[in-house]
Amino acid sequence: MSSVLRSAVTGVGGYLPADIVTNDELSKVVDTNDAWIVERTGIHARHRAAPDEAASDLAVAAARKALAAAGRTPAEIDLIIVATTTPDLTFPATAAIVQRKLGAPIGIAFDVQAVCSGFVYALSVADGFVARGMSRCALVIGAETMTRLMDWTDRGTCVLFGDGAGAVVLEPVEGKGDATDRGLLGFALRCDGTKQDLLYVDGGPSTTGTVGHLRMHGREVFRHAVVNISEAVRAAAIDAGVELSAIDWFIPHQANQRILAGVAHRLGIEHERVISTVANHANTSAASIPLAWAQAIDDGRIKPGQLLLVEAMGGGLTWGACVIRF
Ligand code: UT7
Repeated sequence: MSSVLRSAVTGVGGYLPADIVTNDELSKVVDTNDAWIVERTGIHARHRAAPDEAASDLAVAAARKALAAAGRTPAEIDLIIVATTTPDLTFPATAAIVQRKLGAPIGIAFDVQAVCSGFVYALSVADGFVARGMSRCALVIGAETMTRLMDWTDRGTCVLFGDGAGAVVLEPVEGKGDATDRGLLGFALRCDGTKQDLLYVDGGPSTTGTVGHLRMHGREVFRHAVVNISEAVRAAAIDAGVELSAIDWFIPHQANQRILAGVAHRLGIEHERVISTVANHANTSAASIPLAWAQAIDDGRIKPGQLLLVEAMGGGLTWGACVIRF
């Protein structure tokens, strides 16, 4: 059988800023309460970056852990892709800042903007380099300071988000071209730009000249999430040539415990196979999947060789899924 090149995930790392904000603390800022937030979202707390901590700082901390897990050093990195909606600056790309802060050599570095789906999109972009032999050691990072985009008078959004970063190292490995291979096995990516008004930020460099605040029609986004994610998950499984029953761990984007449960139920995935960190991380946008992945490696649940399915949905609307043999 002819061999193919696959992008294998050789290290995963996560970083959460030290400051933890509880629901009770938020109830002093807006008209909300712990009982509502827990019942409607499953969120108990979220982390918040320090005033002098930028998205690139969170990214670098997560990247160092992923590199250590992979047994690699910054000197070996030839590609950095950062998925972020909250870049340090309008330009340069946060990936360029991460390259400098890590001390990585001249290589390829750029950002991907697909909001909460950014990490899944960035994985697929990185696969295009690694599985073509154009990168020997790639960093894919989701890094967000979502608390900086909040309107702290809007209780419908400000309680939902948190800050953090997660990173993976990708390296090329030889495979047989079937679902027993290690690495990224299948993708489904989607965007429906007609749904922009359901979830967006009301500012930007070429319109208002400001950063803006996050706006969301939560109920509509919720409905789209459950329906659309399920379709993309099935499509990614078909692309990978695997049955959903073969998936060891389902790692969803962490927006709302009720969305996680709704998607899993629709797909017939038991909750024992779902990694959930939303209770303590809240929605960290592009960072949520690699953060949850890192946590489930640290606590011994996710092990090398297992079949993983990651999925996300966010502003755009964008959504997507990826099947990975770890
Ligand atoms: O990352 C991807 C993007 N984001 C998502 O996936 C989020 C998707 N949406 C959701 O998770 C949910 O729709 C929310 C958590 C945002 C809202 O939950 P819901 O069950 O859809 O509530 P709702 O928006 O229909 O609001 C129900 C009530 C309203 O009061 P009235 O009009 O019924 O009197 C809201 O004003 O809950 C009220 N409410 C709150 N009450 C206390 C909304 N936010 C809060 C709050 N505290 N923080």
